[in-house]
Amino acid sequence: MKITYLGHASLQIEIANKIIIVDPFISGNELAKSIDVNSLKADYILITHAHQDHILDVETIAKNTGAIIVSNYEIVMHYEAKGLKGHPMNHGGSWQFEFGRVTYTNAIHTSSFPDGSYGGNPGGFIIESSEGNIYIAGDTALTMDMKLIPMQTKLDLAILPIGDNFTMGIESAVIAADFVQCDKILGYHYDTFGYIEINHQQAIDKFKEGGKELNLLEIGASLEI
Ligand code: NI
Ligand code: MN
Repeated sequence: MKITYLGHASLQIEIANKIIIVDPFISGNELAKSIDVNSLKADYILITHAHQDHILDVETIAKNTGAIIVSNYEIVMHYEAKGLKGHPMNHGGSWQFEFGRVTYTNAIHTSSFPDGSYGGNPGGFIIESSEGNIYIAGDTALTMDMKLIPMQTKLDLAILPIGDNFTMGIESAVIAADFVQCDKILGYHYDTFGYIEINHQQAIDKFKEGGKELNLLEIGASLEI
């Protein structure tokens, strides 16, 4: 499994020759100007919630690639009404896709579309595959629900928001890593705008104190598990 950081909370995940794009917010991110949205390939687009900083480039990528949009029911209906293909899910449900098994998990956050219309409830994803198991937390607070995850899944990597203000910050994310029983973390949802700028070395040190490895990728860089 190869995970490429596309900036903010945007990821490209390659599993079993399939390409999954998560929460594409690229064309609106000055820090991600090295990434060309129109050159991205995708078989699936996973969306954690309807906020602008997670959906901005969904339509462009879906139209370019014919990718299937996987999200909560309300978000998928929103895109199906525009003629795009989707697979609706809801919290606690799993589905076996051709690249692996996806579960839509709880997140503590909000999920309106930019025009204020209803975007269902926010979530995250667990992906279990022959190439490893990962948790993509989405925008969320630290929540006790995270303790349920290791009861069913042995994670190889947890992708956690660390930018604070709109999501949990570093200290909560270290606890979240304990809750999901995973020592290898990829941080996301930081530095994109002023409210969520972090000190990288301090963040890495805090995780190290907690016995965890925090990975912070340059935009466009990848991590293999
Ligand atoms: Ni959000
Ligand atoms: Mn966000």
